[in-house]
Amino acid sequence: MNTAKHHQIWQRREDQDGLVWLALDVPDSATNTLTTDVLDALEQRISELESIPAKGLVLYSAKDNGFIAGADINVFRETHTEDELFSLIRQVQQLFNRIEALPFPTLAMIHGFCLGGGLELALACDYRIAADDDNTRIGLPEVRLGIHPGYGGSVRLIEKLGVMSAMPLMLSGRLLSGRSAAKAGVIDEAVSIRQLRRAAKDRLLNRPTKQRPPRWQALLNTALLRPAVAFLLRRETAKRAQIEHYPAPFALIDVWKNQPSLREDYFAAEARSVAQLLLSDGAQNLVRLFFLRQRLKGLGKLKTPPVTHVHVIGAGVMGGDIAAWCALQGLRVTLQDQTAHQLAPAIKRAQILFKKTLKLPHKVQAAMDRLIPDAEGLGVKQADVVIEAIFENLEAKQSLYQRLEPQLRPDTLLATNTSSIALETLATCLENPERLVGLHFFNPVSKMQLVEVVNGKATAAEWRDRAMAFVVQIDRLPLTVKSAPGFLINRILMPYLLEAVTLAQEGVALERIDKAAKDYGMPMGPIELADTVGLDICQSVADILAGELGLEVPPLLAQLLEQGRLGKKSGHGFYRYDKQNKTIRHRSGSGNTLSSEQIQYRLMLRMFNECAACLNDGIVSDAELLDAGMVFGSGFAPFRGGPVHAMQSKGIADCTEQLKQFSHQYGERFLPHPGWRALS
Ligand code: NAI
Repeated sequence: MNTAKHHQIWQRREDQDGLVWLALDVPDSATNTLTTDVLDALEQRISELESIPAKGLVLYSAKDNGFIAGADINVFRETHTEDELFSLIRQVQQLFNRIEALPFPTLAMIHGFCLGGGLELALACDYRIAADDDNTRIGLPEVRLGIHPGYGGSVRLIEKLGVMSAMPLMLSGRLLSGRSAAKAGVIDEAVSIRQLRRAAKDRLLNRPTKQRPPRWQALLNTALLRPAVAFLLRRETAKRAQIEHYPAPFALIDVWKNQPSLREDYFAAEARSVAQLLLSDGAQNLVRLFFLRQRLKGLGKLKTPPVTHVHVIGAGVMGGDIAAWCALQGLRVTLQDQTAHQLAPAIKRAQILFKKTLKLPHKVQAAMDRLIPDAEGLGVKQADVVIEAIFENLEAKQSLYQRLEPQLRPDTLLATNTSSIALETLATCLENPERLVGLHFFNPVSKMQLVEVVNGKATAAEWRDRAMAFVVQIDRLPLTVKSAPGFLINRILMPYLLEAVTLAQEGVALERIDKAAKDYGMPMGPIELADTVGLDICQSVADILAGELGLEVPPLLAQLLEQGRLGKKSGHGFYRYDKQNKTIRHRSGSGNTLSSEQIQYRLMLRMFNECAACLNDGIVSDAELLDAGMVFGSGFAPFRGGPVHAMQSKGIADCTEQLKQFSHQYGERFLPHPGWRALS
């Protein structure tokens, strides 16, 4: 790359106080990342600065959305050997060391995103200050990609904060606002965005003392105490992540515990550990998902008018939470139910969510002001989007649509959150069936990132595009799916859930069934999932799918329902629950000792078989999207990269062979679906 281009990437300016200002502005990109070009250009700038008598250096970003969003992950995908990766990482470390060694004070002036490698660069500066506003997000989220900080970030953060303050931030990958980052000591100061430049200048010209950890924290860093501290950190981490599935946090603790006495060797050990992790299947799969998430987001990046007002009808479990989520994202929301009385629980839940997320009372109040109880449905006429989330009942929904349609503005999107009724059937009562789109949110709305955007036969592309863009606008991930029973996620989950019920019926202990799934990497066992969703809902979705797809529904489900056992909501489903909804331990099963491996195979192969069927039926357009959908919509083991990827890693021939064997042993439900052929 030529010098002129380099100079465009890091634009240099000197002021009358002798301070050098380097503004990062990656060409042709809305966001700054540490691409090879950015690092080369930075190296060139640092070489220039090493030979001039500057008074200080400020690194900042010329982009509106933030400082630096992290390393360029593409580079890691394209590099294949451990030694190559190690040397790439070392080069960046050495560049950051040169910044640290500059003969004048340096400062990172942060606004917006300052993540991963971006924060590692900032940590190599003497000072860090950031904007105290809603957009600033600072952190080292590398563990979410199956790695840990590698550009010297773990070494420097521990030096600055002490191990007990730095490790939890890196082990959780948590992001902080400017104010919280200042409180934690990650940055020196958070100031209003208007005062950033002034504050940067003051700091460089006055050079206040740099941060140090408290003495007791420094003591914990001694070779004598490190093993004991590492033991405690590992024990805490193991409560949240299994080492076989998520080795990165454990590797980070080990790098710290075994740190060589020379700082330079410690940097090298950090780089070596990241190079090794990057080549592991887990990290490769998490990186793959990172790109799949981008792909989903990209699907909704369309030029459609932005939504400012949403009207939600039905303030139950789903409607209430959808309304709260939209208000949290800054939209004006009117929420309608049959009576004002029925709105109250949803408003209360919303307040809890706002308090938990927004913390500051004035922000909570502003979000509450955006969420307007509207029992009369006055908001319908003004809304850009109307989302129907009333009972799952065709007549009820259609009679509502008939009253609703004449009141809608011609440009208002009409969406339904139905989980099982075909859009084609719902739309028969509409004058304009082309504007009805399914927006299938998952429960709980604030945790599940995916929204299935359901296309009926009559749905027009223009309305579908609006729905996709709306989902991205409210910070969820849209996935277009065909209007078919169970859409994608519920259809794939149902055979897996029913196999778990069959296993329970055969006398396998409930805890063993759940443990087998969790050992595979599922966030929750299928029995617990069925109790959480509600056994009545499971039964009704299973019945619909049974009719359409020929699923066998094990009688145990109906037997439990006859006894009034609905799951968590009734205090008793498969498990019993106390008042706090915690499982009450009891012995279950009749001593069936089927091996854990067999339990796991039976559960997962039923799920995989349905994935093959969905691809065959064109429920989603490709296998990558199916993988993304299952991870972001059901929590499918992210480190496995999605079910299709997991099937391919295990070997398609192996899977179908095992299915055939099970079909002899347990029945036709295990017969490999013809869709597998397309995968081999
Ligand atoms: P819910 O029973 O908790 O709430 C339904 C609400 O709609 C009630 O508050 C009811 O008073 C209100 N309602 C009924 N008729 C109405 C009308 N004509 N006008 C105004 N309000 C009316 O139901 P839930 O679970 O929230 O489900 C709602 C929709 O979301 C259903 O279509 C369901 O299939 C779907 N869904 C449910 C999921 C879940 O996990 N519960 C997940 C995804 C979709």
